[in-house]
Amino acid sequence: MKLLFIGDIVGEPGRRAVKTLLPKLRAEHQLDFVIANGENSAGGSGITPKMAAEIFSAGVDVITSGDHLWDQKDVMELLANEKRFLRPLNYPPGTPGQGSAVFDVRCSVSDGRCSIAVVNAQGRTFMPVLENPFLVVPPEVDRLRQQAKIIFVDFHAEATSEKIAFARMLDGRVGAVVGTHTHVQTADEQIFPGGTAYLSDAGFTGPHESVLGREIEPVIKRFVTNMPQKFEVAKDRILLHGAVIAIDEATGKALKILRVLEAIA
Ligand SMILES: [Fe+2]
Ligand SMILES: [Fe+2]
Repeated sequence: MKLLFIGDIVGEPGRRAVKTLLPKLRAEHQLDFVIANGENSAGGSGITPKMAAEIFSAGVDVITSGDHLWDQKDVMELLANEKRFLRPLNYPPGTPGQGSAVFDVRCSVSDGRCSIAVVNAQGRTFMPVLENPFLVVPPEVDRLRQQAKIIFVDFHAEATSEKIAFARMLDGRVGAVVGTHTHVQTADEQIFPGGTAYLSDAGFTGPHESVLGREIEPVIKRFVTNMPQKFEVAKDRILLHGAVIAIDEATGKALKILRVLEAIA
């Protein structure tokens, strides 16, 4: 089973990159399932049902999120009604929405149908402090394993130490842990000894002639003056960042992880 994970989709350029490049990536890698982080898909801040619909219709099966979850008030509708939309699992009990879900996926065993569980969690280092993901995620993974052999985790976090420690803790218990949030793709893709594929950060999908997807000058001005600035989404050098992961359907262990960095021609 081959899945593509797409790093944070930023604004209209990011959505356009997914629409334009996903068909080619699907054919090239024979993808069975596509997961994308959509926390910046609405003008760089948050997500709305309209943006989610656009991303789903481009061929994405599941959308994850992160700390920008609440930026658009319409997100409440997604949290209430959309089973394919995840928010970090480690919000307090009673928070709307869900942090994990199980989906059907085409595979070569079990009469061609397998289940994949997707989990979204958020780190706590240099980020808003949620419940401890190191305590919240393992029991959820144990629960999900009863329903799905294949488990994918999007760990939305800032610090590489927290990301690596979290993924090492889950080694052998999930098929893959891929980090998001920093918008900078790391080059440390690997498969841990227990069979978990790992990448500290998938990067971001959107305009790279920018600072993390935003126009450059206002961000520099903010650092120079310490005064608030409006950060518009940038326009140029649009790239799709992510990773393709092959997972053994019988064992749930990763076979291969390949970083993806694709430009709109
Ligand atoms: Fe984030
Ligand atoms: Fe982001």
